[in-house]
Amino acid sequence: METAENFLENYQLEGDSLKIFTWPSAVLKEVAGPVESFDDELRETIKNMLFTMYSAPGIGLAAPQIGLSKRIFVMDIDFDREEVTKADGESEFRLSNFNPRVFINPVISQKEGEVLYEEGCLSVPGIYEEVKRAESIVVDYFDAFGNPQQLEASEILSICIQHENDHLDGVVFLERLSMIKRNFLTKKYMKNKKKA
Ligand code: NI
Repeated sequence: METAENFLENYQLEGDSLKIFTWPSAVLKEVAGPVESFDDELRETIKNMLFTMYSAPGIGLAAPQIGLSKRIFVMDIDFDREEVTKADGESEFRLSNFNPRVFINPVISQKEGEVLYEEGCLSVPGIYEEVKRAESIVVDYFDAFGNPQQLEASEILSICIQHENDHLDGVVFLERLSMIKRNFLTKKYMKNKKKA
């Protein structure tokens, strides 16, 4: 039986690959609503979000990015991705060392320090820029079974949580930049998007 303890253990790479919405889709600009029932449907969504994140690949994915305006994000800052050549000469990516995390109805309750780190986003493909974030944070959230949790995070984990949490408030990382950088990168992004 699936429990809070084993839900993310022995994570198997299976699920549905969901469409990732790209900025400036309306759903990415909405303030997402709280999760109210911690049921099988929620856990199915989380598994599909993880599968979609690993397939992309990315290290974090928030529900609005798959068109679901709910306060959920998944993350794995630890997994390895290796290109291997199969017997038939084709190459494929093999993923290992999974450390999936899920955050539901998160609230960042403390922020300390300041750090600059280059960010990218599956919903803003092709754009990377340094963003200023809090160096360390405390986040309160719920797991997939509705149990309250608290985590102190620093470095990449902290940065990633702040990036994903922004998605729940309808904010993409471009909006954390100076006006000049933001305008420049927005133009570049829209130009690339037209070409694609
Ligand atoms: Ni993002």
